Amino acid sequence: MSDLGFLFDPKEVAVIGASASPQKIGYAIVSNLVKSGYKGKIYPINPRVKEILGLPCHPSIGEVEGPVDLAVIAVPAKYSIGVLQECGEAGVKGAIIITAGFKETGIEGLKLEQELQAVGQKYGMRLVGPNCVGLMDTHTPLNASFAAGFPEKGNISFISQSGAMVIAILDWSFQAGLGFSRFISLGNKSDLDESDFIESCAADPNTRVILVYAEDISDGEKFIRVCTTASRVKPIVILKSGTSEAGAQAASSHTGALAGSNLAYDTAFRQSGVLRTDDMSDLFNLGLAFSTQPLPRGNRVAIITNSGGPAIIATDAIEKSGLGMARFEKATIDQLRENLPAESNIYNPIDVLGDARVDRFLFALERSFEDENVDSVIVIFSPTAVSEPEKIADTILEQRKKYPHKPVFAVYMGGKTLAKGKAILVKGNVPTFTFPESAVKALEGISRYADFRQARDAAPQLPLPQVDRTIVKATFYDVIKDRRVLLMGHEASQVLDAYGIPVNRSYLATSVEEACQISQKIGFPVVLKISSPRIAHKTDVGGVEIGLHSRREVEKAYNRITERVNRFMPDAPIYGIEVSKMVDEGIEVIIGMSRDIQFGPMIAFGLGGIYVNLLQDVSFRLASSLNNRKAIEEMIAETKAFTLLKGYRGQKSADIDTLIDAIYRTARLVQDFEEITEMDINPLRVYSRGATGVDVKITISKPD
Ligand code: COA
Repeated sequence: MSDLGFLFDPKEVAVIGASASPQKIGYAIVSNLVKSGYKGKIYPINPRVKEILGLPCHPSIGEVEGPVDLAVIAVPAKYSIGVLQECGEAGVKGAIIITAGFKETGIEGLKLEQELQAVGQKYGMRLVGPNCVGLMDTHTPLNASFAAGFPEKGNISFISQSGAMVIAILDWSFQAGLGFSRFISLGNKSDLDESDFIESCAADPNTRVILVYAEDISDGEKFIRVCTTASRVKPIVILKSGTSEAGAQAASSHTGALAGSNLAYDTAFRQSGVLRTDDMSDLFNLGLAFSTQPLPRGNRVAIITNSGGPAIIATDAIEKSGLGMARFEKATIDQLRENLPAESNIYNPIDVLGDARVDRFLFALERSFEDENVDSVIVIFSPTAVSEPEKIADTILEQRKKYPHKPVFAVYMGGKTLAKGKAILVKGNVPTFTFPESAVKALEGISRYADFRQARDAAPQLPLPQVDRTIVKATFYDVIKDRRVLLMGHEASQVLDAYGIPVNRSYLATSVEEACQISQKIGFPVVLKISSPRIAHKTDVGGVEIGLHSRREVEKAYNRITERVNRFMPDAPIYGIEVSKMVDEGIEVIIGMSRDIQFGPMIAFGLGGIYVNLLQDVSFRLASSLNNRKAIEEMIAETKAFTLLKGYRGQKSADIDTLIDAIYRTARLVQDFEEITEMDINPLRVYSRGATGVDVKITISKPD
């Protein structure tokens, strides 16, 4: 739903609850519309007043002759339903409901909000809010809000779930010199949510970067779908506050314990190409960087400075980030050596020394921009008695014009003496910071986005795997019929096998003879394990015997297990004894899944075995993203387990192809069967050829 033209560029706007009293919100909205220079028709609606700000009033929207695209509603909550109903009847396309007093106030408010939704749906009328500040588009121009002021024209769209944030950022933007294309206050998101507006802003020719302040995401799947497409066209930066675990389910698996709702957000954002920031200043620094700078071709940074210390800090920050220090071409080094004083550092960072005047900065800038090994430049300047902050700022701007394809950032370290220089840079669209770390962070953000855009295209999807869904369905049916949610070992291994996930099959034997027959069929040596839904820790009750090499050993072990379990847990229901093959040692990894309420199944991969939670060597992806080889390779490569798998210290490398296939099939399985709530294959032993899942835990949900 990107075509929200009736909201951002309406032909007519009605303000319902318009007032002639300047202290009322209904007055501020009319006044803002007029002051913003809005060219369409404005209809103030008020039954008691004839005229507001020189505009004739109508007693109700039904009395307006001709169509109305947009209604801004600012009447008390109790009248809002009736008013919205009238809007629907009048054919209004979109309504911004400023009024508070809905779901944010409790159950009664929620009911009222549901009524609003129903009216909107009945008339096919899209709703913004309720409980919002409104929205603005500086290019239309349109200020359909009660905020104080109208932003400078620019190319940043800001979407905010918090109305207070809209008002505060707007106020701050004037002194920060930041321009916006759109300001959107989401309010309670009764209809249109962040995804709708991200989609709309991505299609807006006047928007270059989309900034979002979100407390939650309304619809995880929609968000991923919209952002995956939108982020191909425009950068999306989100500050997601509220890292509570409310969205995470109570977890009984390893994977569930390692994941959390915050991680799900991280994973979803990364997967859909969204950059996440943790604080407001980073959000707007990145917005500024995207809004003014080209995307870098690579991650190699040149630093030019007149002071050593800050340059070291910047270099450290670069080394820690995904960026790297550029290694200059020989010609650059030669020219720098010839033209700068002998004491200067001519390797990156270029130190033009404390007594540098503008000429040295100019030379270093030109050489850096010309150098093919440099993708972006940071100029770090500290004031000295002889330095020329304004002239240097002018020079940066001139060079920026000459070399528009490489990003340049300025760090002006100081306050009063640098104010004028900073102002020149800000006006000239060069992101300017007081400290180097912020510059590096912003540069890293745009560089990450550039990488993401480049990497995007080259990932063909894997073909759908051959699987047997019927077996999985039948197994789950039996488990539910038995009033359980946790699968027994033999059931879980059957499910994996049906999906072609390598697993050490185990089979249930209900008699000694059957155990012997199974052992012969699968081949000795075998392992026997007690099978009872009441016995989680089988070894503790003597329910496990390993390394059984013959029928005789199996017979004896079977009887021993039965006897011990009967003694220790006489009341536990015994289903039989599971028989499986003894498996070889291998590299132990984990493939797991936990389901996030917002974003669906998340797959975990990492070092397996009993130390999973201790080592926390795990990478996560949403299952839906694991549909191509590259994504799975990247997921594996993020972990230390990968170092082992590649062949650590002369060991043979492991069968990574089989592992990739196993992860792919696991992702498929959990997407095909929503009833799987948690799953651990731990350990999955990976060999130089092949792999096998040794312990498998699958939990399913109770049917409704
Ligand atoms: N049609 C048209 N106008 C109507 C009307 C109707 N059905 N019912 C009332 N009005 C008029 C009123 O007569 C009044 O005009 P007046 O000043 O000429 O008398 C005007 O609409 C406003 O109504 P009023 O009862 O004075 O309400 P208010 O201005 O005190 O408050 C809200 C209305 C919407 C501002 C208030 O209910 C509210 O929700 N405030 C919080 C807003 C907020 O914080 N939003 C979230 C931001 S993050």
